[in-house]
Amino acid sequence: MKKCLLALFSAVALVTLTACTGNDDGASTNSDGSGTEATGGNAANTTTQTDSNVLVAYFSMAENVPTPVTDADTSASTLISDGEVYGATAYVASTIQTAANADIHSILVEEPYPDDYDATTDQNREEQADGFLPPLQASDLDVSSYDTVFIGYPVWATGTPQAIFSFIEENDLSDKRVIPFCTHAGYGSGSSYSEIGEAVGQSNLSGLDLEAEEIPESEEAIQEWVASLEL
Ligand SMILES: Cc1cc2nc3c(=O)[nH]c(=O)nc-3n(C[C@H](O)[C@H](O)[C@H](O)COP(=O)(O)O)c2cc1C
Repeated sequence: MKKCLLALFSAVALVTLTACTGNDDGASTNSDGSGTEATGGNAANTTTQTDSNVLVAYFSMAENVPTPVTDADTSASTLISDGEVYGATAYVASTIQTAANADIHSILVEEPYPDDYDATTDQNREEQADGFLPPLQASDLDVSSYDTVFIGYPVWATGTPQAIFSFIEENDLSDKRVIPFCTHAGYGSGSSYSEIGEAVGQSNLSGLDLEAEEIPESEEAIQEWVASLEL
């Protein structure tokens, strides 16, 4: 899957979405690779857990918009192949999952974000200003068995998408090692690490940020970063 995705990233330029994939996909997948697929497409929203003590939880726009993308008429950093859409953060999450032998969970909002980039930007701005926590789709994820939780997301308005705070609100991470990672369009992680640190009650959180365009060449860097964490 990894090589296939990497090839896709290399072959198909990252594009920007105004309409993306279905919202009832995304998934949680156990670390041995069985269970459902972690990227967009038709995976069911189920959670299968193994004895891994590491979880990769991520939010990616392509899995949180209403309409499956069938062409390159887009607005988030994704690639499309054979009708399947892969979010930038989803790809990085999958790479971390493999490197860390982790379980993976896609954070899915109940109400998808609009198909339109500007509308999503406006909605996000309001949600951030109001501190609104978008309700998440029900899942059978149980974080209690994990010692380490990676939290992945696209940087939105130089900060954290509110769905991440919904996830933190629903899942007690206070006794976990929390490691953020993010993808962005070139402006870096912004205020997101400190926001997440504040939300989980841990100061000085640091993580990995990747510009979406660089992701196709970043697999080794991601693996080295995971190794450096000494999980
Ligand atoms: C609502 C919205 C706000 C964004 N704000 C920023 C930003 O402040 N800085 C930045 O570098 N990229 C920003 N981006 C771009 C995304 O962070 C970037 O495309 C990311 O890799 C998308 O990941 P995904 O495909 O997993 O959703 C924004 C994208 C959206 C949709």
